[in-house]
Amino acid sequence: MAFGLRSNDDPPRLSYGGYLKISELTSLQRLESDPPQHDEMLFIIIHQVYELWFKELLHEVDSVLALLLRKEALGAHRLLRRCLEIEQVLVTQVAVLETMTPMDFLTFRDNLMPASGFQSAQFREIEIVSGLKEARVLDHYAEGSAERKRLELRLSQPTLQDAFYELLTARGFNVIPENGSPARESAPEQIAELVRLYEQANKHYDLFMLAEALIEYDELILLWRLRHVKMVERMIGSKTGTGGSDGAAYLNKTVERRFFPDLWELRTYLSNKSGGCEDAQNGGSHG
Ligand code: HEM
Repeated sequence: MAFGLRSNDDPPRLSYGGYLKISELTSLQRLESDPPQHDEMLFIIIHQVYELWFKELLHEVDSVLALLLRKEALGAHRLLRRCLEIEQVLVTQVAVLETMTPMDFLTFRDNLMPASGFQSAQFREIEIVSGLKEARVLDHYAEGSAERKRLELRLSQPTLQDAFYELLTARGFNVIPENGSPARESAPEQIAELVRLYEQANKHYDLFMLAEALIEYDELILLWRLRHVKMVERMIGSKTGTGGSDGAAYLNKTVERRFFPDLWELRTYLSNKSGGCEDAQNGGSHG
């Protein structure tokens, strides 16, 4: 075939729309309001975009988890950086929906009952795989449903927290996973081990960088929770949610959740003897 010319026998070339399934994708926005309310389009698209990012985040977190289980701290750190960038997008995206007024929202809100972000199975998967293993989340999904099966599988698998602590154990730190129990008593010996990691950052710089990326990962989900609840307050005040919860009052309590509570706590016990970053990079230590 001459350069640039195609014969009828050549297989059809891949096109942008065909590869990305654009016509399928853009036909997935079905408004519930009738007559259609302008802002419902934004409301649907932003939720769909979030779910796509959740899918991508889970895809990356699964790889981070596998790398951690193989004790590849630097590879895990590299992909974790990507997760952090995705989380930044999740946080800033809230602003787009905040261009909707409470009155705009009320034009279609009643049509949404009883659907709610509360039922986002991918969001629950993110919580579980990150370290919050709470079996009661299953109660919101029908027995035998595909979503429930995925959550059950997640609950039976190691979490980021488990894998990080396994890596620390393999590198000589005496730590055990917290298994996501929010009511867990803080274990002083465990915190002391993590303080040791930070104080000896120069010796275990990859683990230290990983720990800092993990607390950032945790913080960014927390920032999303805060951003979401402030938007909720702006939209519906103290009304109950379409999913039946107390609305903002419920969401404000979720802000307490942490994937890595020990990483937050250890900071309290660091002192000016702990050594700075420059110190760690130079491989030096205070006498
Ligand atoms: C007008 C905009 C929004 C309002 C008024 C709103 C309201 C609420 C409320 C009241 C809840 C608590 C459960 C309930 O009773 O329904 C909730 C939960 C939730 N929403 Fe939204 N939401 C909005 C937008 C979003 C968006 C864009 C997302 C992105 C995926 C989202 C994801 C979630 C998630 C994941 C939960 C569960 C949080 C948890 O249980 O920790 N929401 N939302």
